[in-house]
Amino acid sequence: MRKSTVRSWAFLAVLCFAIEAVASRCAEVPPGPKWLQTAVFYQVYPQSYFDSNGDGIGDLPGITAKLDYIQSVGCNAIWINPIYESPFGDAGYDVADFYKVAPRYGTNEDLKNLCAEAHKRGMHVCLDLVAGHTSVFNQWFQRSALDRPNRYSNWYIWTPARENAPGSQPFPGDHNRSDRYLPNFFPFQPALNYGFAQPDPKKSWQLPTTDPACIDVREELKKIMKFWLDLGADGFRVDMAFSLIRNDPDHKAISALWHNYRAWFDQEYPEAVLISEWSDPAAAIPAGFHIDFFLAFGEPAYGLLLGPNSRPDGDARKPHAFFERAGGGDIKAFIQNYLKHYTVTKSRGYISIPTANHDTPRPTWGRDEQEVRTIFAMLLTMPGVPFIYYGDEIGMHYLPQTPNREGGLLDDIQRCGSRTPMQWSKRKNAGFSTASPEELYLPIDPSESRPDAASQEKDPASMLNFTRALLRLRRDHPALANAADFQPLYAEEKSYPFVYLRQADGERIIVSINPTAHSCAIALNEAANPTPLLVRGAVFRNGRLEMDPVSFGIFAVER
Ligand code: GLC
Ligand code: CA
Repeated sequence: MRKSTVRSWAFLAVLCFAIEAVASRCAEVPPGPKWLQTAVFYQVYPQSYFDSNGDGIGDLPGITAKLDYIQSVGCNAIWINPIYESPFGDAGYDVADFYKVAPRYGTNEDLKNLCAEAHKRGMHVCLDLVAGHTSVFNQWFQRSALDRPNRYSNWYIWTPARENAPGSQPFPGDHNRSDRYLPNFFPFQPALNYGFAQPDPKKSWQLPTTDPACIDVREELKKIMKFWLDLGADGFRVDMAFSLIRNDPDHKAISALWHNYRAWFDQEYPEAVLISEWSDPAAAIPAGFHIDFFLAFGEPAYGLLLGPNSRPDGDARKPHAFFERAGGGDIKAFIQNYLKHYTVTKSRGYISIPTANHDTPRPTWGRDEQEVRTIFAMLLTMPGVPFIYYGDEIGMHYLPQTPNREGGLLDDIQRCGSRTPMQWSKRKNAGFSTASPEELYLPIDPSESRPDAASQEKDPASMLNFTRALLRLRRDHPALANAADFQPLYAEEKSYPFVYLRQADGERIIVSINPTAHSCAIALNEAANPTPLLVRGAVFRNGRLEMDPVSFGIFAVER
């Protein structure tokens, strides 16, 4: 063969390889706002973050004042729990006025300013959209309850009292109808009426999704989104996103609904994001969400990793979680389920496994700091969009003895234990507020050893600086990017460690995690010339990966 032929064949091969690499890379990057490819979220529970005016309750100017801190952690986006006018029966998830910031948090102008300040720093701000219900004090509900027909009569789901529909609630009042409404969560949170996918013909109160009242509700939600997006918000975390339509066993109608909103986003707000509290990425992402949380809603998801089975007072009948010192967890079951969702959604959206949220215990519960670091080493190197719950970056404690406030207690979980004020420093009230301690939203962690941001700032070995190091790694390495490839290398039932490969742009990174009190080792052929990037107690020796008790390793490897 002539030299020039060899050269052109070689050229063609390189070209094909390059085209394929680009094509496959393009195929892997989900559509939607480009900023999601590098987004790392920080969840702010506003009443507990920073109190700027000394009334004991965190507020919007307080969040604005802390944007530089949030950015210094390595986060470039925030999700704020509901900030709307509310009687706060469920910490603001009972909205009285969707168009108005609750006075305790500030004004709409303060929110506008927060968004503008975030944008100046290249950060994004998502609000919480409580789409499925309102407060009974919402004017829509108050009018809907009236015994004379009006625009709002069918905005909620009213059932004849004589039917005694399960869960239905009376709303007595001089001029109110005798029907009962269906709540969506707590009894004081009446469900908005988006209709029934398959209405029961014998129950005329079950309206089809095409009923004008249901369409009115649907359009109102759009108006709410438009209102805040125009003010500067960059998207929404949608509360109970799966819950809007009833009698919808195959998710067809709810998917169509979100599809519709997403098409509108793509057209009018292509840089805005929709994040679902659904915990079924295989349904939520094709329905139009950019991100879905992988939580503990029934399936072997979050629970198998972190809880509730990892609780120190855990229920012995439940399976162990993977992140338990005692071992006995089943990462295989978790990964099988995760992959089921990941493989069908990776080119369309992102899965998020948060460090915690305002409904769950914090990862520190029953664990020491090294154990929490192994959790972070995994969660911040997985694909998808990371979410750090405020205070987790400094290892704040879950405090089950915290007094109940604003509907915190749910089943046997005291959610307030994860909602205590952020600990900023060793100053009065941990630097959260200048109010007197009894005026605070919730008491500060009373522990002598409570962590705080200012002290950790100065300590290079602190949890805060560890979190920063992990996020720096994520930012600096294409193989750890949100949409980079993920492949488990070792994920066996009741066996450790858990090992996976991340790769992109020819870069390969192996992550290994051993949360147990026992050392472990496996043979691993994939790891040629490993370079440690961030390691604690893990080493490659003679083709084997050896891990100390409670250890992790993040290594760059060659093909
Ligand atoms: C979601 C919220 C939770 C709230 C509930 C009702 O699960 O995360 O805090 O109580 O919805 O809105
Ligand atoms: Ca305040």
